[in-house]
Amino acid sequence: MNDVAAELTNSRIVGAYRERTPGSAELAKEANELFPSGITHDARNVDPYGVFIARAEGPHKWDVDGHRYIDYFGGHGALLLGHHHPVVTEAVREALDEGTQFGASHPREVQWARAIQRLVPSAERIRFTSSGTEATLMAVRLARAFTGKQTLMRLKGHFHGWHDQMASGYTNHFDGSPTPGVLPGVAEKSILVNPGDLDAIRAAFAGDNDIAAVIYEPTGSSFGQVPLGAEFAQELRRLCTQHGVLLIFDEVVTGFRATKGGAQMAFDVRPDLSSFAKIVAGGLPGACVAGRKDILDLLDFNVTARTGREKIAHPGTFNANPVSAAAGTAALTVIAETDASDRASATAADLREQLNAVLAEAKVPWAVYGTYSGFHLFVNPSGLDVGPYSFDPAKIPLEDMKNQPKGLVNKLRLAMLVNGVDLNPRGGGLLSCTHTADDVANTTAAFREGIRMLKQEGELPN
Ligand SMILES: Cc1ncc(COP(=O)(O)O)c(C=O)c1O
Repeated sequence: MNDVAAELTNSRIVGAYRERTPGSAELAKEANELFPSGITHDARNVDPYGVFIARAEGPHKWDVDGHRYIDYFGGHGALLLGHHHPVVTEAVREALDEGTQFGASHPREVQWARAIQRLVPSAERIRFTSSGTEATLMAVRLARAFTGKQTLMRLKGHFHGWHDQMASGYTNHFDGSPTPGVLPGVAEKSILVNPGDLDAIRAAFAGDNDIAAVIYEPTGSSFGQVPLGAEFAQELRRLCTQHGVLLIFDEVVTGFRATKGGAQMAFDVRPDLSSFAKIVAGGLPGACVAGRKDILDLLDFNVTARTGREKIAHPGTFNANPVSAAAGTAALTVIAETDASDRASATAADLREQLNAVLAEAKVPWAVYGTYSGFHLFVNPSGLDVGPYSFDPAKIPLEDMKNQPKGLVNKLRLAMLVNGVDLNPRGGGLLSCTHTADDVANTTAAFREGIRMLKQEGELPN
């Protein structure tokens, strides 16, 4: 049993959770015999176990015991249109009937790429991959090959998937040292800087002419948990151009969500390369790297033959899979032709306000904040003098923003699940355009009850 589990053993919240979820407990027992920690994605780790979901519709999902949850996990951010969107589902059905893998080019990949280009003008060329991890891997390889430089600049706490070059500096190893299994030679080719620290970036650019690219999450790590805005993006764009460094926007979460054209549209910044996943494939597996033609030309047989440059190889069995292509095209078309992104953002703003009102009323010195269709919970690990209405994330030290106490947030999460709400592991979440005012009201009531349960359990002062 790990520390968190040990601490929770006598908890009434855990007791209530266990009592409500016997079907999930049974499946978790079996999953523990099959998977490390009984899970298939680190972010699904819940103590004592997570709920097992049987089906989902719009903003809701139902567990194997028949309980409904208002879902803020949103398919890890993939579901801006909510679960089981009728247009996307119909497109998937139609594509399935035609076959799932042709081992050849097909019309749907062309339609999919056009749907991306319609929303993202910087996508002069596109290469599909199966995951966001692969998309950032290819973006970095392209950047190094194109510039002939080796070093990659990243921002501390920013996530770009789990491949070797992105492993240190996300949740730990902020000194850039390699995480287990990563070669020191790979890790040492990254420079990690504090988010928003333009002076550090200027100094690095001036002192090192071997920097190939900067990659970052444009609205800040984890969709703005540590927020960054337009000013930073615009100055970084200017500096990158000045120093011949490529700018890579990792729009795996922000793409089609921050605005329908992603963060690059919101900030009016044109990156050299972007990575997209999640929403881009309409809730199915799929992703892409997109950007300047002259850079993606390094994947092109004819151009590289003509220019005498060595082509970058890129196979991938499920690249541009036709079913994902159908889902992605359908979702992006809905996003292009409706106000889905703006609607999700407006509902999220409402939710943030209502949750903060609960904190104020209960005199809890936490805060709910966020941008666009996201919300984050700050549970104030160092007891800073902040409140829901006087919270400025820019003034909080990075360690306090990132090191939310796991045991406490896990307990809040269980309390929210008991009350019919699924938050993400940081106690926040992402909204879809299908979340309604009713969902906001029900989530607010659940949060009020969750806070009461935490107080009753001595986790918060009364
Ligand atoms: C910003 C960002 N980049 C890259 C990834 C990796 O994408 P995938 O999980 O599809 O490999 C994620 C996944 O959450 C992400 O949030």
